[in-house]
Amino acid sequence: MTRTLSIAADLWRSFQRERGVAVAVQGCSFKINAGETIAIVGPSGCGKTTLLNLIAGLDRPSSGRIEWPGLGQQDTLRPERIGVVFQSANLMPALTAIENVELPILLGGGCEAEARALAALATFGVEALAAKLPEQLSGGQAERIAVARAIVTQPELIVADEPTGQLDQAGAAILVDRLLAWGQQTGSAIVIATHDERVAAKMNRIWRMRHGKFENMNARPVCTGTG
Ligand SMILES: Nc1ncnc2c1ncn2[C@@H]1O[C@H](COP(=O)(O)OP(=O)(O)O)[C@@H](O)[C@H]1O
Ligand SMILES: [Mg+2]
Repeated sequence: MTRTLSIAADLWRSFQRERGVAVAVQGCSFKINAGETIAIVGPSGCGKTTLLNLIAGLDRPSSGRIEWPGLGQQDTLRPERIGVVFQSANLMPALTAIENVELPILLGGGCEAEARALAALATFGVEALAAKLPEQLSGGQAERIAVARAIVTQPELIVADEPTGQLDQAGAAILVDRLLAWGQQTGSAIVIATHDERVAAKMNRIWRMRHGKFENMNARPVCTGTG
C-alpha cells in the first residue's frame, strides 16, 4: 500500500521586498509517497529552495495547504522524520564534521550518536574527515558531510537543496548513487533540487519549475479531499 508522506494543494509563497512582492511559489500541488525519488529542476530563482523549505516544514505557505500525513504535523516535526541538506551545506562552523553529523541525533534525543555519525560519514566515504572543522573542508567534502548529517537519523523523507553543486560530474554521480542506494535500503523518499540533468535523470520523477510553477507535472492528480 502506498503511504503518502506529504501532500500539498495550491501552495503559494510570496515575499515582501523593498520594491514589490516576489512570488516564489505559485499554485503548486503535489504528493510525495514513501520511497519515491524526485528531482526539482529549474533555473536559478524559479523557486526550488522556497518549495523545498515548504516541503521540509521549515517555512509556511502564504496560501494553500501542505500536510504530512505520514510524518506528523509541522509543530511536531523532528529531525528523525525529515532530513534536510541545505544549499551550500551550511555546516555549523564551530563543530567538527562528526559533531555536525551527530547534531540531528542529539536534537532528537537519540543515543549512540558518535557511532551512528561515523557510519553515516562512511556511507559517503568521508569518515577520515570526522575531526575536521568546516573551514578545513573543500566545498565537495562539506556537501558529502551535509548529506551524511541529513541521513543519520534514518528519516523517512530527505529534502536536499542542490547537494552536488560543489562537486564535479563524477563526484556528483557517486554522492547521488550512494544516497539513492541508502534510500532503497531504508525505503525513504528523496527530493533533490538540482541544476544537473544527469543527477535529475537518476530520480523516478522530475518536477520542472519555472517562475514558481510546475511546467510538466508527472505527479498523480492530487485530490484535495476535505480541503
Ligand atoms: N527570503 C526571501 N525574501 C525575498 N525574496 C525571496 C526570499 N527567498 C526567495 N526569494 C525570491 O523568490 C524567488 C525564488 O527563490 P528561490 O526559491 O531561492 O529559487 P531557486 O532556489 O530556484 O534559486 C526569487 O525571486 C528570490 O529572489
Ligand atoms: Mg535555491
